[in-house]
Amino acid sequence: MLSPEELVRVRAARLYDPPDYFRPLHKTEIFSATPERPDAPLEIDVGCGDGGFLLDLAAAHPERDFLGLEKLLGRARKVARQAARRGLTNVKALQIDSPYAVRHLLPPGGISRLHLLFPDPWPKAKHAKNRLVQPAFCQDVHRLLRPGGEWLFKTDHPEYFTEAVATIQASGLFTATHWPADCFPYPLTDFERQWLAEGKTIQSARFIATSRPL
Ligand SMILES: C[S@@+](CC[C@H](N)C(=O)[O-])C[C@H]1O[C@@H](n2cnc3c(N)ncnc32)[C@H](O)[C@@H]1O
Repeated sequence: MLSPEELVRVRAARLYDPPDYFRPLHKTEIFSATPERPDAPLEIDVGCGDGGFLLDLAAAHPERDFLGLEKLLGRARKVARQAARRGLTNVKALQIDSPYAVRHLLPPGGISRLHLLFPDPWPKAKHAKNRLVQPAFCQDVHRLLRPGGEWLFKTDHPEYFTEAVATIQASGLFTATHWPADCFPYPLTDFERQWLAEGKTIQSARFIATSRPL
């Protein structure tokens, strides 16, 4: 059990504050390399919310590192607090506008998996331009992923699913691949639990980054 002072210190360390917001970071500026873990795979959760998925995945994979991007400070703080409480050293939260981080901040070629789970669907047609999955976002994600890196996407919004999958495939930068339920452990997200309890249908897609544009 951490003392209150230790908890404050550890929590602060889990709320990531980049050394520079105006250049791409090196992976080791987010999580230090250690002799035991010289090149741990780095995974990104875009719009991690309260972090239920991110924290469970980090707990299941101490050999990997996890960074959650979240625009709401209260949610990012909650993730950091829970990471500290659970003693997880391989997860951090960054309060930021994720398109900015994906374009300017995260290490090119440094990401093993990017999770985009239940992004805001912006259901009204006049707001559709606010949806994250756009052609430029696909290029940015591809630049971040290692060759063979994965982009995992889930939504409860049928129209967004169709549109996003079409946009990702039209980019020519990713190959869609099967995602069977027993493929690898994949915790439910906080919103997913809520949508499932309400009887909503969830759609999922899994893409592998091509080594160069097709
Ligand atoms: C519908 S919630 C899903 C949260 C989580 N992925 C889940 O499934 O439980 C969408 C989350 O994305 C965050 N978000 C929306 N736009 C964002 C942006 N531009 N950058 C970072 N986070 C964003 C919201 O604040 C919210 O926490």
